[in-house]
Amino acid sequence: MFKFFIKKNKKEKLEDKIIKKIPKHVAIIMDGNGRWAKKRNLPRIKGHYEGMQTVKKITKYASNLGIEYLTLYAFSTENWSRPKQEVNYLMGLPEKMFSSFMPELMENNVQVRVIGNVADLPDSAKNAINKAIEETKSNTGLKLIFALNYGSKLEILNAVKDIVNDYKNDVISLDKISEEIFSNYLSTKDFPNPDLLIRTSGEQRISNFLLWQIAYSEFIFTKVAWPDFTEEEFYKSLQEYQARDRRFGGLNED
Ligand code: IPE
Ligand code: IPE
Ligand code: MG
Repeated sequence: MFKFFIKKNKKEKLEDKIIKKIPKHVAIIMDGNGRWAKKRNLPRIKGHYEGMQTVKKITKYASNLGIEYLTLYAFSTENWSRPKQEVNYLMGLPEKMFSSFMPELMENNVQVRVIGNVADLPDSAKNAINKAIEETKSNTGLKLIFALNYGSKLEILNAVKDIVNDYKNDVISLDKISEEIFSNYLSTKDFPNPDLLIRTSGEQRISNFLLWQIAYSEFIFTKVAWPDFTEEEFYKSLQEYQARDRRFGGLNED
């Protein structure tokens, strides 16, 4: 009890320090569930289950820190190529997660959103997600955005098709197609671009995630597997972010 108190106190002090330069939007490529499980001689799905616990933990922490947007890459358009048993398990996770997580989401004023092709998910997943979106739609705190059946190239391609359609129907003229207007055709149109992108588990690639939106994001790659990603790890990433000098192509002269 006493030990816990000291630890908590220390963390709160650290949190006070970073509050000045907290990123508005953090995006995370939650990677390494399978390897985490393999290392422990467990089935890969156990890694996904533990990964779900990390989602809950990190969401609460992000909300407490005052982060406004948290985007979590949960399932890519390429992940369908995994073994059927694993895909089935992953598709069952939204239902599993929201059935136990909803009271906490409400308590923390978290609004659930989604990007990606949800329409193509199995009914149970689709219903669980839509229910969570509906029940949390009036919440005004952290926006928790799940990238589900998401692929950035497909998203961009769909945006191009929609723009071409609007052009053909005289909704938009060629000279009006700016970067800003293009962004409005993406599934992320309601959200600012991520300030910080974290990928866990050592891989240093983007894997078709938010290609347009991360043009000026800061990247942090950590070796820690997603099921082992703690509040402390997240905090360390935020500290590293805080020390970065974002120049957006310009010059920062002190
Ligand atoms: C991330 O963990 C979760 C998803 C991609 C769904 P992985 O399942 O990719 O774990 P590794 O990379 O195989 O360890
Ligand atoms: C990226 O991880 C997708 C998600 C985290 C949902 P992957 O494990 O699918 O990426 P690759 O295959 O290693 O690039
Ligand atoms: Mg992986």
